[in-house]
Amino acid sequence: MMAARQSADEIFREFKEHSISEFFRRNSQMLGYSGKVRSLTTIVHEYLSNSLDACEEAGILPEVKIAVKELAESKYSVTVSDNGPGIPGKHVGKALATVLAGTKFHRYLQQRGQQGIGASGCTLFSKITTGKSIHVKSGTSREHYECDVTLDIKSNKSLIENMKKMDSDATGTEVSGEFGDVKYEKSDHGVYEYVKRTALSNPHVTIRLTEPDGNEAVFLRATNELPKRAREIKPHPLGITTNDLVDFAHRSESRKITSFLQESFARVTPMKIDELRGIVKDVDLDSDPRSIKWEDAEKLVKAFKEIKWMAPELDSLSEIGEKQIEIAIKNILNPVFVSVIERKPRVFRGGIPFVVEAGIAYGGSAGKPREISKAEAATAPIDGQRSSSEGNILRFANKVPLLFDASNCAITEAAKGIDWKRYSIANFDEEPISVLVNVSSVYVPYSGVGKQAISQEEEIIDEIKLAVQDCARALQRYLGGVRSKEVQESRYKTIMRYVSQLSGDLSDITGAKREEIEKSLKALVEQRYSQPSDEEEEADQKQEEGGSKPGEGEKGEEAEEE
Ligand SMILES: Nc1ncnc2c1ncn2[C@@H]1O[C@H](COP(=O)(O)OP(=O)(O)OP(=O)(O)O)[C@@H](O)[C@H]1O
Ligand SMILES: [Mg+2]
Repeated sequence: MMAARQSADEIFREFKEHSISEFFRRNSQMLGYSGKVRSLTTIVHEYLSNSLDACEEAGILPEVKIAVKELAESKYSVTVSDNGPGIPGKHVGKALATVLAGTKFHRYLQQRGQQGIGASGCTLFSKITTGKSIHVKSGTSREHYECDVTLDIKSNKSLIENMKKMDSDATGTEVSGEFGDVKYEKSDHGVYEYVKRTALSNPHVTIRLTEPDGNEAVFLRATNELPKRAREIKPHPLGITTNDLVDFAHRSESRKITSFLQESFARVTPMKIDELRGIVKDVDLDSDPRSIKWEDAEKLVKAFKEIKWMAPELDSLSEIGEKQIEIAIKNILNPVFVSVIERKPRVFRGGIPFVVEAGIAYGGSAGKPREISKAEAATAPIDGQRSSSEGNILRFANKVPLLFDASNCAITEAAKGIDWKRYSIANFDEEPISVLVNVSSVYVPYSGVGKQAISQEEEIIDEIKLAVQDCARALQRYLGGVRSKEVQESRYKTIMRYVSQLSGDLSDITGAKREEIEKSLKALVEQRYSQPSDEEEEADQKQEEGGSKPGEGEKGEEAEEE
């Protein structure tokens, strides 16, 4: 029998609008809440990233305390406190309990956060797994308070309760909450590893982590110098879409499109405006930007592409630094060989600056397969299918370690796309080799809201490949030296075994003294096999130093894989 047909009116009786937080309540895996171990790491990652961003923006050396306590099976409390500038009381609800609200979304400034989802995602996750609020203590230079914040999921509005003044004179923020469906585990994906890698890529930070068993792990800062301050820049005309332009225009306070373009975007000068006028004759550039039409914005974006612009400002980026990457690699992997490179900044999508740093480690625990615990594998459907090569790629974006979603990431794609055989690595997955890459940008194009993988933009992949290949060439030179030395040594040993036998035989035949023959034969062999060649000496020296700089006296900066 045919089912009764339904009219549009009947179907549309179910028509409902829902809020962004309602959406993430159902799809919390998109925020990184899938798998118990991963979920706990996500919480610490969001709070710690916020603390570091806040301190750096305020010019404060970060001191962050993290405490994780087990309350019951799969239920933990997490407290994160910092010495940052604090959150003004009137903003605390929006900052910590409204999804898509924050101070970073519309800015072209290299920061760890960029969406306004992280902290509110934690508040949401606490609410849906325990029904509880997040307790906040915060102090700014003007006020000190504590309160409970949570959110009304249906309306995506924050709810603040028990607001109290606090007696204190220190600035900073402490958030603490209870979370269900989580688990503390000391694996490669756990909180400890995340914190350790964060400390290594941020040498100016001190982090004290109290683990559920009471152990306190202290990661002391290695330098008192704050990293180079990332500078806020304006978007470059070549990097924006029609939609961006309309969005910027509608929020503009300028009276004319001409002044709006000059104020909102980099490199737009009165001369460039004249050029634009010549190209888009039918768009009134003296009209109000807030009433710009899509068609006109489209024409402008098209015209931008015809103009020769000065390149975007590239000094807006803040890197980890070659020295620190080398320290990080040695600390994590204890290898016998390290090679590190920092490339020059580049742009992607025509106007967004980014810079790649890379390092290669060989030997030690480099390339060892990551330990994936049973619990983790069973509870992490998204990250379930890993290939072994993903284990030896240490990924970072804006100095934040990326521990999940490796197979989706531009870094993995680039490293796997290299023809490793050309660099004396017969099998990348099986040799003791690890690759570390950090991508810094004012806007990192993550492939998901969980921010664990960088989307596969061609320009970024190419740049990562060039960086890794540069390190690979240094590795190849090192391995060449080591391998030829091994061959020499084995020949030396074999020949030496025959020397005494041969000396006896020669002495019998010639009547010369056996000891003398043996002595001169040995001298001959020593001379031939135990004197390292110049190349070997160089390799030895590098090995002693534990590293080498790639590209020296070699191919230039733009060298591609031939
Ligand atoms: N520890 C803190 N100190 C000062 N301000 C903070 C702190 N934590 C959060 N904030 C403020 O709350 C806002 C929202 O944080 P949230 O983590 O939700 O988003 P975000 O960091 O802007 O972006 P993302 O979603 O990428 O993390 C931040 O933009 C910041 O203004
Ligand atoms: Mg954040």
